Amino acid sequence: MRIISSAHELAEAISSARQQGKKIAFVPTMGALHDGHVSLVELAKQSADFVVVSIFVNPLQFAANEDFDKYPRNLQSDAEKLSAVGVDVVFAPTVPDVYPNGDAITQHAGEVGKVYEGAVRPEHFDGMLTVVARLFDLVQPDFAVFGKKDAQQLFLIQRMVANSDHRWNQLAIIAAPIIREESGLAMSSRNQYLTEKERVVAASIHRAIQLASSGTPTQRLAAVEANLDPAIRLDYVALVNPNSFEPIDESFSGQALLLIAARVGNTRLLDNLSITI
Ligand code: PAJ
Repeated sequence: MRIISSAHELAEAISSARQQGKKIAFVPTMGALHDGHVSLVELAKQSADFVVVSIFVNPLQFAANEDFDKYPRNLQSDAEKLSAVGVDVVFAPTVPDVYPNGDAITQHAGEVGKVYEGAVRPEHFDGMLTVVARLFDLVQPDFAVFGKKDAQQLFLIQRMVANSDHRWNQLAIIAAPIIREESGLAMSSRNQYLTEKERVVAASIHRAIQLASSGTPTQRLAAVEANLDPAIRLDYVALVNPNSFEPIDESFSGQALLLIAARVGNTRLLDNLSITI
């Protein structure tokens, strides 16, 4: 496994893999890797013979009041995990490697970027799409793997690729299932911020969303709220159409996506569940 930080060296490694006729799969991350990230790598390996994982804490997707400075960074332990699962290249660039011409926003998430996560984090999705587009330009993958854990992010990336007019030739997005801790808590790099007590509180998020299994949409959302631990501060809970991210109405039937974001102490946690209505 090679650890590469310069865009130039990455381009060389990619072009040599291409010359050998290899298919390339790409897993973008911000590091602090856990088993959720590892599961993405395993899916990548099933689709391609050359796997690139990026580790880059993207300043563009953090607002000034957010955790960019304290976001956990540990390249050495991340590299050990990736080497153990058979990654070919870890791309761990610096900010100037990723944004050599300055860090202007180049991608806009539009209306879906303003709701749910986007309502709480107004510039987040433009910054996230900008880095993903830049990384796709650098890696030119055949496959890119993203977790369903970040459902709105996944939706926006799929839409960006679909509307990109083949900027990334033949790129297929693979959506990976949510990996959870034994308690049901969705794995996240930010779970490191939780105390033992907060982990118990956080586990009620997954328990509560599973209780949205019957009734009208309004009844389902009420059941989730009623079953959250009282120490949780709910940011939003919503039922949306997964194809548009618009809220479903009371007469909806079909596959809906239940979205939830909540704070436990100072930590913001996301989860979601696909449910049939
Ligand atoms: P990060 O939070 O590091 O997540 C990297 C990838 O891992 C994302 O696709 C995310 O959905 C996936 N992931 C995280 N937790 C998961 C879990 N419990 N189960 C399955 N997949 C999980 O998301 C980002 O980084 C950034 O926004 C990025 C796309 C890298 C752009 O900067």
